[in-house]
Amino acid sequence: LDNGLARTPPMGWNTWNTFECNIDETLVKQTADLMVSSGMRDRGYTYVNLDDCWMTRSRDGNGNLVADPAKFPSGLKALGDYIHARGLKFGIYESAGTETCQHYPGSLGHEQADATLFASWGVDYLKYDNCGSSGSDTQQDYIRRYSAMRDALKATGRPIVYSICEWGNYAPATWAPDVGNLWRTTGDITNTWSSVDAIYHQNVGLASAAKPGAWNDPDMLEVGDGMDFQEDRAHFTLWAAMAAPLIAGADLRSAGVATFSTYLNPDVIAVDQDPLGKQATRIATGGGLDVLTKPLQNGDVAVVLLNENSTTRTVSTTAAAAGLPAASSYRLTNLWSKELTTSSGTISANVPSHSTVSYRVTPGTGSSIGTAHPIQGASSSR
Ligand code: GLA
Repeated sequence: LDNGLARTPPMGWNTWNTFECNIDETLVKQTADLMVSSGMRDRGYTYVNLDDCWMTRSRDGNGNLVADPAKFPSGLKALGDYIHARGLKFGIYESAGTETCQHYPGSLGHEQADATLFASWGVDYLKYDNCGSSGSDTQQDYIRRYSAMRDALKATGRPIVYSICEWGNYAPATWAPDVGNLWRTTGDITNTWSSVDAIYHQNVGLASAAKPGAWNDPDMLEVGDGMDFQEDRAHFTLWAAMAAPLIAGADLRSAGVATFSTYLNPDVIAVDQDPLGKQATRIATGGGLDVLTKPLQNGDVAVVLLNENSTTRTVSTTAAAAGLPAASSYRLTNLWSKELTTSSGTISANVPSHSTVSYRVTPGTGSSIGTAHPIQGASSSR
């Protein structure tokens, strides 16, 4: 959606993956504080997003939505103020139907009133779900229901990122880029490798639809929610390669060093947030071994070697296959270990089970990481 927002994939945190309906303002405030103190905000995790269950079961006498006073006794304007005071942005959830997925009142037919209310609370991001559609389920119905809220958000005059949660129905790549800033490409993620891997497969072929302001959304991150360390890192790496929104789903109050070190990896975040805005494409697949390549704005290419098998395997490609220009040598920077290696063209690694090895590949002998002006291999390029 060309509304000037989400020029790189949105980053933040959302209540749903860990807390579902068990949310309140203490949780959200503590999380906002942790996003600052952990360094997440300064790495780009800006949005603090409520998901379903923030409201009361019915609208008030004027037809307005009401924040649940037991969960949010200070109200959502005050919560938004708290979030904004910490340099963060405030996100909320609703549904493009008569009810949300947890049976709270939906926005269908109330789009402008609800958008205006959200804007008055200082909302900066809306996740708009697809429950309660009441039979309005053709592609035209989707476009109508989701466009109505797009137009209502625009009419508020407030910049609000618009996240469409239509579960990948009706080929969203053909219509959603003009309606929302991001659109779901799959059903709901869970905190298992099989879920993450299945969603990866559904999302990896959709690169042509992604561009600044319009992103495929393979759902929120399960890093820190129960998978093992390698799986968490593979999940995070794949999502970054696919230019996915990086919306953390963990309980940051109990998250350990490993979880924060994954969420905070600046070099993987830089791949996700690269201003060129290309989603990685898969250049090789077979036997549970995939190779992804993501072109980056400075001419580097991010290369991800994925092993979906239950034992370690070698995964290999070449700089030429990854789309890099011919050069006598390439500098490979491992995005996790930070190890630097030089290659004449082969890009290969032993990749543990359910894991990735990922590199930023620079033609020539320079490394782009940590340098504003990487040394390009001009003298050795042909
Ligand atoms: C749907 C969405 C989820 C979450 C729940 C909340 O299932 O896809 O991401 O928002 O609703 O009820």
